[in-house]
Amino acid sequence: MRDPYFYDDCDVLKNKMGIKDSAVLDLAEVEFACNAIHELAYAPLTGDYDFEHYCKMHFYIFRDLYDWAGIPRTVSMEKEEAILGYMSIEYAQPEEIAKQAEYVLERMNRRTWGKMDTSEQAEFLSQDMADLWKVHCFREGNTRVTITFVCQFADDHGMPIDRKLFEENAVYTRNALVAASAFFQNADFRKMEYLVKIVRDSLERGRTSQRRL
Ligand SMILES: Nc1ncnc2c1ncn2[C@@H]1O[C@H](COP(=O)(O)OP(=O)(O)OP(=O)(O)O)[C@@H](O)[C@H]1O
Ligand SMILES: [Mg+2]
Repeated sequence: MRDPYFYDDCDVLKNKMGIKDSAVLDLAEVEFACNAIHELAYAPLTGDYDFEHYCKMHFYIFRDLYDWAGIPRTVSMEKEEAILGYMSIEYAQPEEIAKQAEYVLERMNRRTWGKMDTSEQAEFLSQDMADLWKVHCFREGNTRVTITFVCQFADDHGMPIDRKLFEENAVYTRNALVAASAFFQNADFRKMEYLVKIVRDSLERGRTSQRRL
């Protein structure tokens, strides 16, 4: 079946600007989404860190680009990952998205973050980030919304975090999320250490810069 998110005559996501060249759309996407992500660092989006809040954040970041911003995808999806030999992570089926995301978010909200040291915070934040990302709630933009959402959550829960590291190391971050989510129905190839490393570094930098203020 043809992906209904694509234009009928080309493999480009239907978008509000009518762009039909994927390279041009990528540029427009980076521009609009980055601006919104930077705004959110200064003006956090209110909410309870539940699924509704997560969708609201996707809407905020992608609202100028896609009609479906903030709306979970309605199709199954695969993305080839170079570091998995061009296999795809097993994302959630559309009908499972809300339930799986809510499960992760409820767990993240129940944790006693204030009782953990930075290493423990990095481990649990990485676990929650990877599990939320693995659902891949939206047709596009999952890495950006997940990183932004988890960083705002950390800031709001007494764990100041430096977001720049994720943005400046976007390829590393995405590969680290893939490595942390590489478990399949019949095999588990998960490696958490890359994600834990960048999350711990970001927490340490966040704490240091807060101390300087
Ligand atoms: N935390 C971030 N802040 C700003 N830009 C980012 C961030 N993470 C990724 N990007 C940029 O977003 C663009 C798209 O990246 P990518 O396709 O890996 O993520 P995504 O579209 O958010 O997630 P997915 O494709 O898995 O749904 C890249 O140009 C990347 O540099
Ligand atoms: Mg993408």
